[in-house]
Amino acid sequence: MIKVAPSILSADYINLQRDIELVEKAGAEYLHIDVMDGSFVPAISYGPAWVKSIKKISNMVLDTHLMIENPEKYIDTFAEAGSDIIGVHVEATNHIHRALQMIKNNNVKAEVVINPGTPVDLIKPILYMVDQVLVMTVNPGFGGQKFLPETIKKIKELDEIRKNSGLKFDIEIDGGVNNETVKDAYEAGANVAVAGSYVFGADNPADRINAIKKVAD
Ligand code: DX5
Ligand code: ZN
Repeated sequence: MIKVAPSILSADYINLQRDIELVEKAGAEYLHIDVMDGSFVPAISYGPAWVKSIKKISNMVLDTHLMIENPEKYIDTFAEAGSDIIGVHVEATNHIHRALQMIKNNNVKAEVVINPGTPVDLIKPILYMVDQVLVMTVNPGFGGQKFLPETIKKIKELDEIRKNSGLKFDIEIDGGVNNETVKDAYEAGANVAVAGSYVFGADNPADRINAIKKVAD
């Protein structure tokens, strides 16, 4: 079973409610919300006010991916806004342990995110704290980039750790995901797939969600 997390980064912002309802009806379990600060990544996207508004119209798990420097500053605000999962990049803070603690203190699911150039070793000490690990399969910052196959071995490594340690974190992938690229990642152990342009760039987003889910059949 693979859960799908459509990223609203590629949705039609003027018709955001329509797009959100569409993917929820199609069976997406998570809604992926990409928060960008123009510093950790070049682009600026949206913030907690969006999460608060989306919370009112959707029952999907709000999967909040913070691509911001010093995420500790905003964790409480996103939790109050209604985020169900908050993900922080290990590269964006000097205090990953404290950041994860802050997320957990809000009774929100804690996620650590690693860029393509960041090794799994770096997060081993804090894996016991997380509900989900997000393995970036592109360099963060934009939708519509090409999946980096060299990230698969990190998914395998995390899956091995999960099997051998008894830890129960989910492994999510993000970037360049489609019905083809998801295959190897799923086989390697990923069980949550973010997809932006593949889902919202289609005439029929529901078909695309089903096509991703099908890899697990
Ligand atoms: C990239 C974001 C992704 C993005 C994925 O920095 O973290 O969530 O929306 O877009 P696609 O699926 O188009 O690669
Ligand atoms: Zn993302």
